[in-house]
Amino acid sequence: MSRTKTDILILGSGIAGLTFAIKMARQFPDRQVLVLTKTVEGETNTRYAQGGVAAVWNGEKDDFEKHVADTLDAGDGLCKEEIVRIVVEEGPERVREIIELGARFDKEKGSNEYDLAMEGGHSEHRILHYKDLTGWEMQRTLMEEAARYPNITVKEHYFALDLITQHHLGRMVIRVTPDIECFGCYALNKQNGEIDTILARATVLCTGGGGQVYKSTTNPVIATGDGVAMTYRAKGRVENMEFMQFHPTSLFNPAGDNPSFLVSEAVRGHGGILKSAEGEEFMQHYDPRLSLAPRDIVARAIDSEMKKRGTDCMYLDCRHLEKESFLAHFPTIYEKCKSIGIDPMKDMIPVVPACHYMCGGILVDEHGRSSIHRLYAAGECSSTGLHGANRLASNSLLEAMVFAHRVFLHIKDNLHAWEYKEEVPDWNAEGTTDPQEMVLITQSIKELKDTMSYYVGIVRSNVRLQRALDRLFLLYRETEDLYKTTTISPQLMELRNLITIAYLITRSAAHRKESRGLHFTTDYTGQLSFVEHSVL
Ligand code: FAD
Ligand code: SIN
Repeated sequence: MSRTKTDILILGSGIAGLTFAIKMARQFPDRQVLVLTKTVEGETNTRYAQGGVAAVWNGEKDDFEKHVADTLDAGDGLCKEEIVRIVVEEGPERVREIIELGARFDKEKGSNEYDLAMEGGHSEHRILHYKDLTGWEMQRTLMEEAARYPNITVKEHYFALDLITQHHLGRMVIRVTPDIECFGCYALNKQNGEIDTILARATVLCTGGGGQVYKSTTNPVIATGDGVAMTYRAKGRVENMEFMQFHPTSLFNPAGDNPSFLVSEAVRGHGGILKSAEGEEFMQHYDPRLSLAPRDIVARAIDSEMKKRGTDCMYLDCRHLEKESFLAHFPTIYEKCKSIGIDPMKDMIPVVPACHYMCGGILVDEHGRSSIHRLYAAGECSSTGLHGANRLASNSLLEAMVFAHRVFLHIKDNLHAWEYKEEVPDWNAEGTTDPQEMVLITQSIKELKDTMSYYVGIVRSNVRLQRALDRLFLLYRETEDLYKTTTISPQLMELRNLITIAYLITRSAAHRKESRGLHFTTDYTGQLSFVEHSVL
């Protein structure tokens, strides 16, 4: 057990965490910036991003108004327009910054102009990308830059367990307590099993998404919604959790992969067409934008066709595309398909929707401030108001950079006023013993994923949601009993966090008596005339 003090504590080493860390360390060379990451620094959602980052780049064809309009349209009435404008207008400057740090984006053949790709819901070509490995390139750039600053420490294999607030000093804290403050976090050092107390002047959550709450997801196994669950336990505000985005085209692999491999939307932007096994197009029955309609529409169309036809997948036809260009743009996708016996130039690619992105999350304002003082959030774990009921493709990396910058600006001006809370006690592990049966945890995770996939998937209903809530309550009770008596392990904490995420998604979905964006229920197929955010 050790006690550490750091000026800035960042949970997460993806695009949001590292962008913020670099800005902070550069501005304050005498301040300590500590980044915790639960496995290794490079294992993040960011690293797997394929399609790219959306930004208005070609001023002759594109403009801010078009990007704003596309984002609002995808968000189905629930975006906060002032936030959309902030992200769209500040985005290009943030992209320029990462280019200056050394990030490479593909250029048009024989030209110095960026090769701007197209994705669903965009009215213009505006996606900067590096082959189909954009996230890997951005993660690499940020890791190399962060390593240059002696005042940034990245601790790998450190699992943040809980945020420290007045609750840990014995004060009663409830969700409406007005002055909840965050003093740092307790974290499990996975290498020695000890729980450290980390005190900070300011804490920034950059913990990414929670796709692992579903059986089939494109998210890596680290994506268990820890930051959102910790904030909710600390009595912070969380919103719009019913809007879990299913990506229409993950690679259907009967062997079952976790995570499911993504077949980027950029493949459809490049000319790939969705078809049935018989080679018939079907998107004309759902939306005039066909295969490039926004994600919620395409994912529901595929789900509906699969149910109607009783098939396990639908197909993406790329056979008509030029091989050289396909290989230049999508080398990783090509190789992955080949590895399971599919040649995209000769065979249609079998695809199926998979959980991909958490549009809701920790409620933050335009500076990235959560409802808890000295606690900020940026990236996928936050809910800024940009995405509304459905995220526009490739807006996520952009949002993470814009908000990492905004959090930096706000903390820069306020840091001097915040002191360490020395009286915080160390973690109390009395009365717990090593788990006798780890299988109880793995089995509960499996049950949880089944419950969410069967009852709270792409198509929902009141009966299904109630079933899910009943089953989640049972899992919650069993897991809390285990938690009180068992030594803390990452598996147990991830199970607890996933149950919280599942509960938040299901509660918010049950609360929304309409179909909107990613939330589709057979009980209310229309929309309310007014829109409201589901704040819990
Ligand atoms: P992440 O990059 O997920 O980082 C999370 C960090 O938090 C990790 O370091 C993790 O270890 C750490 N962490 C989590 N919990 C804890 C804990 N308890 N203790 C300590 N550390 C913790 N978006 C786009 O805009 N364009 C794309 O082309 C695109 N493609 C995608 C493709 C795939 C396959 C996936 C999965 C997502 C894609 N996205 C894309 C979404 C985008 O990649 C993510 O939303 C974004 O990278 C999230 O960044 P982040 O910094 O918020 O979190
Ligand atoms: C993709 O490449 O299809 C993913 C893009 C995104 O999630 O924004």
